[in-house]
Amino acid sequence: MPGFELIGQEEFNQVKQVFEESRVLFRHSFDNLRNGIFKVRDFEEAFACRMQVPHALAVTSGTAALRVALAALDIKPGDEVITQSFTFVATVEAIIESGATPIITEIDDTLNMDPADLDVKITEKTRAIIAVHMLGVPARLREITNVAQRHDIPLVEDTAWGCGGTFRNKFLGTHGTIGTFSFDFAKTMTTGEGGMLVFHDEKLAAKAKAWHDHGHENNPKLPRWEDSRASSGFNFRMMELQGAIGLAQLTKLDQVIAAQRLNKKKIKTAIENLAVRFRTVPDGSEETADALVFFVDDNNIALRCRDALIDSGLGTKILPEAVTWHFAGTWDHMPSLVNAHGGNLGNAFPNSKTLLGRSVALPINVRMKDDVPQRIRIALKSVIG
Ligand SMILES: Cc1ncc(COP(=O)(O)O)c(C=O)c1O
Repeated sequence: MPGFELIGQEEFNQVKQVFEESRVLFRHSFDNLRNGIFKVRDFEEAFACRMQVPHALAVTSGTAALRVALAALDIKPGDEVITQSFTFVATVEAIIESGATPIITEIDDTLNMDPADLDVKITEKTRAIIAVHMLGVPARLREITNVAQRHDIPLVEDTAWGCGGTFRNKFLGTHGTIGTFSFDFAKTMTTGEGGMLVFHDEKLAAKAKAWHDHGHENNPKLPRWEDSRASSGFNFRMMELQGAIGLAQLTKLDQVIAAQRLNKKKIKTAIENLAVRFRTVPDGSEETADALVFFVDDNNIALRCRDALIDSGLGTKILPEAVTWHFAGTWDHMPSLVNAHGGNLGNAFPNSKTLLGRSVALPINVRMKDDVPQRIRIALKSVIG
């Protein structure tokens, strides 16, 4: 699981420096007070460098990152944006906030976007695709990118769970037109609340930067209050304290991923001869190992696995219990989503519903007690032998 397990002196020192040497909490201006300290700017540069992309933009949350991405792509009412049935509600909220209609694909045994269904759901109104790397396992990027390129539609990678994962040795979030990240408290890297966008295209990055800051172009020749603007926007600016924490967390990303991969391997080894089938990880990809997901025969067995894990003082992560926040088939509170799928979400994504109902997700921690893999094995064995 997450970077919060490693929050410590490094984060404190970064924040302390802001208070002791700058005391400016705003990412721009106040040059005469801040002693040259620009934490958000440094965090963006360090993140871009780590992800090996030319541009990064820090924002207030992963949800904001998605909203800014859609604004930079000029998504507007009447457009359609396609994403997948298994994601957090935020992905669809960002589409609705942009004024576009959310269109949902089924998932496959990666529990991410089914590329065949994506191809079927593209219409002349489709203006963007948001593929999600749920629970840290890469989506089928090769196939999804092919579909996006064939139809000339920009691909946004919702990398909220995928920070540090790779496909073909390139970081998740850097394969599409824009990658978005979340640094909320449950994520691989955390700034408490926060998010990031990464771009290859300079113009797109500049557009996103302006939009997330009321349209400010941050013209270096003008004071901020006389700054130039070409369009309106909104305020999704990250503050200096988050930038400071992000700088410290970024230095721990490799350690978090390495520990998670090792712990996941230990758990997998402990349970692999039980009657389970593991979630597919696409060839050529390295997951963040945020969770270990396996399939059982039906929902009843999945729920019994969950109960047995809880009785043993362990637990599950999202699956099978928390689908209400993570499965579009349950989001009756979103009229445009309901209307776009025949007025009834209950049966709109049958494959996804069956797959998610049969799934059990085990959380992976950075710090894991030695006896955890065996305790998981014993708990699951009582149900699935
Ligand atoms: C897939 C996905 N996208 C976006 C978000 C939104 O991130 P945030 O909580 O930083 O707004 C989340 C949060 O869990 C998520 O899981």
